[in-house]
Amino acid sequence: MKQQLEIIRASALEAIAQTTAAEELEALRVKYLGKKGELTAVLKQMGKLSAEERPIMGQIANEVRAALESAIDEARIRLAAAAMEQRLVDEALDVTIPGKPIRIGHKHPMYKALDEIKDIFVGMGFTVLDGPEVELATYNFDKLNAEEGHPSRDWSDTFYFDEDSRVMLRSQTSPMQVRAMETMKLPIRIIAPGRVYRKDEVDATHSPMFHQVEGMVIDKGVTMADLKGTLNAVMEQLFGEGTVTRFRPHHFPFTEPSCEMDVQCHKCGGKGCPTCKGEGWIEVLGAGMVHPKVLEMSGIDSEEYTGWAFGMGLERLAMRRFKIADLRLIFENDVRFLEQF
Ligand code: PHE
Repeated sequence: MKQQLEIIRASALEAIAQTTAAEELEALRVKYLGKKGELTAVLKQMGKLSAEERPIMGQIANEVRAALESAIDEARIRLAAAAMEQRLVDEALDVTIPGKPIRIGHKHPMYKALDEIKDIFVGMGFTVLDGPEVELATYNFDKLNAEEGHPSRDWSDTFYFDEDSRVMLRSQTSPMQVRAMETMKLPIRIIAPGRVYRKDEVDATHSPMFHQVEGMVIDKGVTMADLKGTLNAVMEQLFGEGTVTRFRPHHFPFTEPSCEMDVQCHKCGGKGCPTCKGEGWIEVLGAGMVHPKVLEMSGIDSEEYTGWAFGMGLERLAMRRFKIADLRLIFENDVRFLEQF
């Protein structure tokens, strides 16, 4: 038995000294000291020994157990230290290596222009609304007084989703006028920026997808003078003091009277150049007094309330604001172009 114990001691101590992982060490502990372990198996045979032998063997067995236990403890400390050492190596950080440059982007120039526009209107007490790009013809046309047969309802101009021409990609942000009138309390002062879609070929001033900013005011005693005064003030804030504008008569189904507003060309100062196609002026928005029929269709008493509305092309405004010559640059997302703003 003594020999058995010595064999266990020697082989266990050797195995423990060679372990390189905590799981291995635990397996050895179970193998030798566990309930079904080798040392335990030997101790179970003690009963067979004579009364003289028993205490001697018992003492040796205890020594072996103590030796194994302390060897295991030592190994545990050794493994923990080695693991820590390894982590320090693995996670070492060389602070002398130059860092990777981080490229910070910035807002697209068109959205910068939009932010400026929003700030100007919010400063005047307007609320900014968001609306659906997939719109019902009811809102895009019917309730805006553009009846069946109106040229803008044609399939050659508008993207429809259904045979009956009832669901469409909105062709203007004006449906937000109706949505505002139907849901908001009077008086109303809103702007509604967003994407709009028309079947246009791409060129220097056209794209089948572009952005508009709709605006509308409805209150008692609102006149065309408010429209002109507000829009002139907005253009001066956007383009600088002394910005020259002009209003031309126009037609829209949902405003009466209607007008278009031009801003004097930034490139030539009104003399005429390629940017303004020789005209000296750049058209930036359509506007007018909200048609009484449109007010009534949305349940507003047109005897008591009047209003004005406008819709401006955001790309064109951004082009003028940042002196960009071609609309396509706005959508191409060429970093060499975007970096300039
Ligand atoms: N919705 C018109 C367009 O897309 C612009 C507009 C808006 C005109 C509001 C008058 C009033 O051309």
